[in-house]
Amino acid sequence: MASLASSMARELRIIPLLFLLFAGLCRGSKIGVCYGRNADDLPIPDKVAQLVNLHQIKYVRIYDSNIQVIKAFANTGVELMVGVPNSDLLAFSQYQSNVDTWLKNSILPYYPATMITYITVGAEITESPVNVSSLVVPAMVNVQTALKKVGLHKRIKVSSTHSLGVLSRSFPPSAGAFNSSYAFFLKPMLEFMVENRSPFMVDLYPYYAYRDSPSNVSLNYALFSPASSDVIDPNTGLVYTNMFDAQLDAIFFALMALNFRTLKVMVTESGWPNKGSAKETAATPDNAETYNTNLIRHVINDTGTPAKPGEEIDVYIFSLFNENRKPGLESERNWGLFYPDQTSIYTLDLTGRGNVDVTTGANITSSNGTWCVASSNASELDLQNALNWACGAGNVDCSAIQPSQPCYQPDTLLSHASFAFNSYYQQNGATDVACSFGGTGVKTTKNPSYDKCIYATSGKMSSGNSTTTSVSSSAHGSILKKLMEVLLFMLSLSLVPLLGIA
Ligand SMILES: *[C@@H]1O[C@H](CO)[C@@H](O)[C@H](O)[C@H]1NC(C)=O
Ligand SMILES: *[C@@H]1O[C@H](CO)[C@@H](O)[C@H](O)[C@H]1NC(C)=O
Ligand SMILES: *[C@@H]1O[C@H](CO)[C@@H](O)[C@H](O)[C@H]1NC(C)=O
Ligand SMILES: *[C@@H]1O[C@H](CO)[C@@H](O)[C@H](O)[C@H]1NC(C)=O
Ligand SMILES: *[C@@H]1O[C@H](CO)[C@@H](O)[C@H](O)[C@H]1NC(C)=O
Ligand SMILES: *[C@@H]1O[C@H](CO)[C@@H](O)[C@H](O)[C@H]1NC(C)=O
Ligand SMILES: *[C@@H]1O[C@H](CO)[C@@H](O)[C@H](O)[C@H]1NC(C)=O
Ligand SMILES: *[C@@H]1O[C@H](CO)[C@@H](O)[C@H](O)[C@H]1NC(C)=O
Repeated sequence: MASLASSMARELRIIPLLFLLFAGLCRGSKIGVCYGRNADDLPIPDKVAQLVNLHQIKYVRIYDSNIQVIKAFANTGVELMVGVPNSDLLAFSQYQSNVDTWLKNSILPYYPATMITYITVGAEITESPVNVSSLVVPAMVNVQTALKKVGLHKRIKVSSTHSLGVLSRSFPPSAGAFNSSYAFFLKPMLEFMVENRSPFMVDLYPYYAYRDSPSNVSLNYALFSPASSDVIDPNTGLVYTNMFDAQLDAIFFALMALNFRTLKVMVTESGWPNKGSAKETAATPDNAETYNTNLIRHVINDTGTPAKPGEEIDVYIFSLFNENRKPGLESERNWGLFYPDQTSIYTLDLTGRGNVDVTTGANITSSNGTWCVASSNASELDLQNALNWACGAGNVDCSAIQPSQPCYQPDTLLSHASFAFNSYYQQNGATDVACSFGGTGVKTTKNPSYDKCIYATSGKMSSGNSTTTSVSSSAHGSILKKLMEVLLFMLSLSLVPLLGIA
């Protein structure tokens, strides 16, 4: 997406997650945060490094090589992606000595106390108002050469970031293709990346796709909502449940079309604005929280994309702070997770594992429960059977999903089943087994309630509150009986195909 946001200042790089620490893993998809500084009211870099540490952010992207910023991250364990701005590409491409000097003065004195792992040379050059596209590869080569001279070329990877505008076509994803006008610099750049094992870097913004084409793109699809209807790629039959995957696969297919199928792809920016002009109705803290939370959950367990299932994809959230000096629409200045005073704009689940309050780091998940919803990849038949069972033998009050009731819309099986599953789950002690439904139920820490459709939470019944069975009372019920019910239900599911019914 050609984005105003992306052509402006951004900085910093990724962040490892709590979950990685707990699990003691060092592989897997990583979540970082971009630290853009196009603002006149931000805290000093030392304070920012403290904030980043407090929130256990381990990967940060910055957009230049500001010495105060680089110094601030010394000995913090944070891995830093530094940037060479487009305005420096001329000097970097012209003389090797310029780059050697820069490395000597701006990077080496602070390395490895500050753990710099990537240098991005140029940012979204195809969006640059000044045509610098012929400079970027020579500049990358000079940076690589300078690193080689000091023996750091294997520890610090050199790449360049792109907007989705490098593609001439991104839909359907299998038709993804690079704009041939850019072939003159892309081809040598991709070859450079293969040779030096650098990742292809792209900034992805489903927000702009939605904002610019709300009649063709559903908000649910842009926000990874399970209520979104699927988009099927007619060429491959691959099913897309969210736009992020579709955009990323368009990049994968474009790379495959040029026979660069082994390149790793990194998402160096993605996010959602928390505020916008009157016309930008989707730019709200709620949507920003939903997008970023779902994005993190989506990538953190190496789900991959439909075309690349199981692929590790590192993603940097844009951005750490709102940036008051950015030009353009109101939303451009409001992509932050934090206000300049370091208070959080909304709660973000940075771990993908539970809601951790971004301001306090406090665990709000443990105090307030989980919900059970229908899996978006369950088959219709399984979902229908499970729904029938929940509203029948399962004793769930399903009046709220009847026509004209608060949870009838969206009128989809997935949404109705989610409501019924959750009611059953809450009525039956919120145990794992009560969210099984033959594998079609999944637990979530995100409250699925919307508008007037209120999903039951532990201890309370939902919506029309016609039933007020509380967890505590039903938890007294026999566990054995519940297990039997669940077993019977699972049997009923697996018997269906055996008996050739339906
Ligand atoms: C940018 O410059 C390159 C080479 O200098 C040229 O081939 C290309 O057409 C230019 N692009 C635009 C959009 O002017
Ligand atoms: C390809 O890039 C050129 C140069 O920026 C642009 O004029 C053209 O519209 C692009 N083509 C497509 C299909 O996006
Ligand atoms: C929606 O898609 C149609 C068909 O692809 C296209 O003609 C139309 O311009 C799109 N509308 C918007 C607002 O992008
Ligand atoms: C991994 O991601 C998939 C798809 O988003 C989700 O359905 C699944 O529950 C996740 N698993 C874990 C352990 O978080
Ligand atoms: C959140 O709660 C879980 C489970 O109680 C605990 O393991 C984890 O350490 C807590 N996280 C934080 C940041 O306190
Ligand atoms: C969690 O529950 C407590 C007590 O019921 C409530 O005060 C608090 O606002 C809840 N927090 C969230 C994030 O829902
Ligand atoms: C849903 O997808 C995940 C990941 O691809 C898979 O592990 C799981 O078995 C699927 N669930 C169902 C019900 O098909
Ligand atoms: C449902 O519960 C809410 C709060 O628990 C209560 O205010 C409301 O009157 C109840 N509605 C009905 C129809 O019982």
